[in-house]
Amino acid sequence: MKAKEILDKAYNTHKLSKDEIKFLLSLEGEEKELLFEYADRVRKEYVGDDVYLRGLIEFSSYCKNDCFYCGLRRSNKEAQRYRMQEDEIVEVAKRAYAIGYRTVVLQSGEDPYYTKDRICSIIKKIKENIDVAITLSIGERSYEDYKAFREAGADRYLMRFETSNKVLYQKYHPGMSFENRIECLRWIKSLGYELGTGFLIGLPEQTIDDLADDILLVYELDSDMVGIGPFIPHPQTPLKDAEVGSVDLTLKCIAILRLLLPDSNIPATTALGTLDPLGRQKGLKCGANIVMPNVNDLKYKLKYELYPGKICINEDATKCRGCIESIIISLGRKVGQGYGQSRHYRLKK
Ligand code: SAM
Ligand code: SF4
Ligand code: FES
Repeated sequence: MKAKEILDKAYNTHKLSKDEIKFLLSLEGEEKELLFEYADRVRKEYVGDDVYLRGLIEFSSYCKNDCFYCGLRRSNKEAQRYRMQEDEIVEVAKRAYAIGYRTVVLQSGEDPYYTKDRICSIIKKIKENIDVAITLSIGERSYEDYKAFREAGADRYLMRFETSNKVLYQKYHPGMSFENRIECLRWIKSLGYELGTGFLIGLPEQTIDDLADDILLVYELDSDMVGIGPFIPHPQTPLKDAEVGSVDLTLKCIAILRLLLPDSNIPATTALGTLDPLGRQKGLKCGANIVMPNVNDLKYKLKYELYPGKICINEDATKCRGCIESIIISLGRKVGQGYGQSRHYRLKK
């Protein structure tokens, strides 16, 4: 059986050719289940049964960019905008710590209001108050900014390249450049951050060939964390009538990435849980080992609308913390203690 041969090769070498990746992406039925079983086995052997939680703080819904798929794009005049002030962000981080989180993810649109100095000050204040790892997810900045954030104490940086198809990248990111995004990712890595990148699954016109290239680019960038999720059309964007991304294809991408990057951190994303009520569980069963619940106040959660129907939008942070823990336990796994640093990153140091 060809699938088994390829999976055995991936299991033993953690390498796959583009054709082999495309073949795995096309699997259905029993062979697809076999892919998921291999990925789950690799996950268990390399990163174990611990599932690490990240407390997500979405601190600004302003964005200067105009990504075609995103509800926060600057042309969306109906988007509700907010900015959290420094003290408020630190308070939310403290609350996240109090309910057990040991990593906070500071995420926002690309909002120039948060200058280098403001971001550095937020990082320092959080680190002075609580013992957490800090992940930034605030988009493209200058080398000097990334350097300053790292020196201020930021540990990790998450920025998807979204698609490796340059024609599609140009089409869906007016005024932005694929080359610049990749350069930013290389700077981030060179500065010693734990690097997280990834892509969207199901953008209009994206092909299986593109997805295989996306997977290979994550591999080439030697990502310590991988963030991938299905595209969900937002009604106030140019892609409003596009088809929704496939949960199944997303799960296959997670599984293949687990085979290629056995000790990287891979989240089961909120978008996956939004499209399928069991999406996060399915992700955790085919390679994922991270979940990123939102810890913001309800008044902000509603306004950070990247796509419609987001889960947990009416749940407070304490409820989500309990809910996610019971999901993890129901899968025979446990909540990881400590920072949950990427093993991929740790072993390279
Ligand atoms: N502005 C920063 C950036 O773009 O890197 C960070 C925040 S951005 C909202 C985080 C991620 O949301 C993006 O990388 C993108 O993949 C995802 N996203 C945006 N719109 C989406 C949609 N309609 N469906 C699924 N994911 C979406
Ligand atoms: Fe802005 Fe990020 Fe949304 Fe693009 S994906 S519009 S950069 S928030
Ligand atoms: Fe938010 Fe289940 S994780 S309600």
